[in-house]
Amino acid sequence: MREFNAVVLGAGGVGKSALTVRFMRNEFLESYDPTIQEEYRETVVVDGEPTLLEVLDTAGAEQFTALNEIYISAGRGFVLVFSLTLEASLREVTNLRQQILRIKGENSRVPMVLVGTKLDLTNEREVSPAYVAELSGRWKIPVYETSAKRDWDVTEAFEDLVRQMRQY
Ligand code: GTP
Ligand code: MG
Repeated sequence: MREFNAVVLGAGGVGKSALTVRFMRNEFLESYDPTIQEEYRETVVVDGEPTLLEVLDTAGAEQFTALNEIYISAGRGFVLVFSLTLEASLREVTNLRQQILRIKGENSRVPMVLVGTKLDLTNEREVSPAYVAELSGRWKIPVYETSAKRDWDVTEAFEDLVRQMRQY
């Protein structure tokens, strides 16, 4: 069985853990418990092919971001997470993407997906669908608007990443 490791990165409170736990355990984390670092390992079947997937759920809290350098060096694929309800969380994914390209090399194809979270919080939405689409096009990274709470498009986002990791 092939094995891949992925790293989930983004600002504090955007929903990295809820997204990861929805995909890896099919549960919703209702309460907010800031992460230091959590690792999950599961066999996932994508396009009929079982794959051992290791997912590192990182801390968004500023005091831990020095570790991102190490996580990025060791990571094969990346889930860049922002909240659709917090425009300011886009700044963090912008910085993280640049950091990834710097560490992995500007010209290498790095498996990445961009994930907007909390799609179910319709009234709190701050980032427009048009802007999300524009970023995805500009960065050439597939984007998914998701809800860990409702289980909308979470599987699709991780499966896309697994396909990219198989390909390059
Ligand atoms: P740090 O570990 O501190 O970096 O935060 P995080 O990015 O892991 O955020 P976490 O997943 O802990 O979610 C923060 C809060 O947002 C929690 O109370 C979650 O229940 C809530 N949340 C996450 N995803 C969703 C979602 O899709 N919909 C709704 N309504 N709430 C969500
Ligand atoms: Mg967390």
